[in-house]
Amino acid sequence: MRVTERLSSMAVHSRQLRADGRGRADATSGDDGPTCPGSLIVVSNRQPYRHEYEDEPTAERAADPADTDGSPPAGTNGGEQTGTQWPITVDEPTGGLTAGLDPVVQGTDGTWIAWGDGDADFAVTDERNCVAVPPDEEAYTLRRLELSDEAVESYYYGFSNRVLWPLCHGFPDLIEDRANDFEWYRTVNEQFADAVGEHAADDSVIWLQDYHLALAPRMIRKSVPKGATVSHFWHIPWPTPETFRHCPAGGHVLEGLLGNDLLGFHVERYADQFLQCVDRFLPSASVDFARRTIRYDGRTTRVVATPMGVDAESYDRDARSADLDRLSDLFEEYGIPEGTTIGLGLDRLDYSKGIPERLAALERFFERNPDWRGEFTFIQKATPSRTDIETYERYGELVRSEVQRINRRFETADWRPIVYTEDVLPREDICALYRHADVMVVSPLVDGMNLVAQEYVAASVDGDSALLLSDRTGAHERLGSHALTIDPTDTDGFASQVEHALSLSPYERQRRMNTLRQRVFDGDIESWMDTQFDWIRRVHDDSRTTEPRSERDSDSREPTPPI
Ligand code: F6P
Repeated sequence: MRVTERLSSMAVHSRQLRADGRGRADATSGDDGPTCPGSLIVVSNRQPYRHEYEDEPTAERAADPADTDGSPPAGTNGGEQTGTQWPITVDEPTGGLTAGLDPVVQGTDGTWIAWGDGDADFAVTDERNCVAVPPDEEAYTLRRLELSDEAVESYYYGFSNRVLWPLCHGFPDLIEDRANDFEWYRTVNEQFADAVGEHAADDSVIWLQDYHLALAPRMIRKSVPKGATVSHFWHIPWPTPETFRHCPAGGHVLEGLLGNDLLGFHVERYADQFLQCVDRFLPSASVDFARRTIRYDGRTTRVVATPMGVDAESYDRDARSADLDRLSDLFEEYGIPEGTTIGLGLDRLDYSKGIPERLAALERFFERNPDWRGEFTFIQKATPSRTDIETYERYGELVRSEVQRINRRFETADWRPIVYTEDVLPREDICALYRHADVMVVSPLVDGMNLVAQEYVAASVDGDSALLLSDRTGAHERLGSHALTIDPTDTDGFASQVEHALSLSPYERQRRMNTLRQRVFDGDIESWMDTQFDWIRRVHDDSRTTEPRSERDSDSREPTPPI
């Protein structure tokens, strides 16, 4: 989470003048980047910018006798309404999706609709709940949805993250099918669909993101002009039919997604598994496996595999300008002796990321290689996530206790094998760490793509480091041949690959990293967006030429989902 700016209420107010709900009036952007074939509306659960009141009261607030708890008075819209200067900060929530798409939307003058989860979010929006972002540039409109605590508990912490997340990552045993969660998921999806309806025009390209919004595409169809294109990118894996059969309301999920003209996954396997699920659980749909199209309820959905990339140039640039003094300070703060070889892991604290398995492999490595004790330090940076869910809380506890146990076993007076931190580090520090790390370990048990692996490669500007990569990530399809492949659950094999990485000659490191860098730059976020927009153009044109108007507009059949 990066604090980008500190705003006074006056500064916030001036920004609202540009937030008219339709994006920038003087559209000067979009000249160099990917070109969207219409006016772009991105829809996601997570927002790219979050406004928060600062924790610490300012001098004015401290002097205000009404301010007893350091927060804005209840029932007000923050400082602006009271005339008090309530400092507001803007941060960028953690996550590859928002970080990846933000620069793209900046270049296309679009609108982004998302849940406003910051406590000052609605103090800075206009009467349509819109604010222009990024704060200094005002490149596009962020439309925020206000969700009640009950809705968040059931839609986000419930059906999204207690059902769809474990299901899609192949952990059906972790599914918690609680009463009302699906109903709330439906209600919130409706809220998103209604908001899209308020912003959409006939030329709109509506582009939904991820598993929080599976029902929305079908709903959106009914609330937008007929000329609009509805597309969706599913950022996490899609499971096999064997796993998908555990999905409560699975038929509704499939049916919702078939409201899309275009549905994208990172890799071919997920696209094919989606087709198989539709074929098996939605018998009235007609699936063309060769063309990857599905005909259902009078409409056609095209399914594609388009692996996502990162903004490689910006990671390269930030790594080159990394402040090495700052990094030395950080190492001192973390008690890392100067000159040790550095390993790095960087993950959200999520059971799909394979962190305990990684720690087990490191323990095996230090058992087998006493010479490396004191010479190799592994930095594990973890970001707590979804901690309201017990499984996540327990996972965090397990990771922390394993780190302690392993450290106790091997540590010396001036060295610990694993430096574990949950600190929020600014992007400059992350890029400096990427550049400095000799070995990066990305070892999820399953991951739709894993953008961290690609960020690391983009930031490895010296080409003298190695990437260890799980063969269960989408990223492995792009990078596997020149990374060192690991099976995250094979502790011995994993430890051997750590040894291998540390023993690679400088030439071999360079050779591998050059190719990895080539692939990450060739498949960067901009080329991904180009591919998305090309597909959107294509399905849009196809729907005009292949479907009779009466069929395109058909809404009359209401098929009943079988599961
Ligand atoms: O695609 C998975 C994803 O949405 C990523 O974009 C991001 O890393 C993560 O999940 C964010 O999770 P959350 O929004 O629940 O914090």
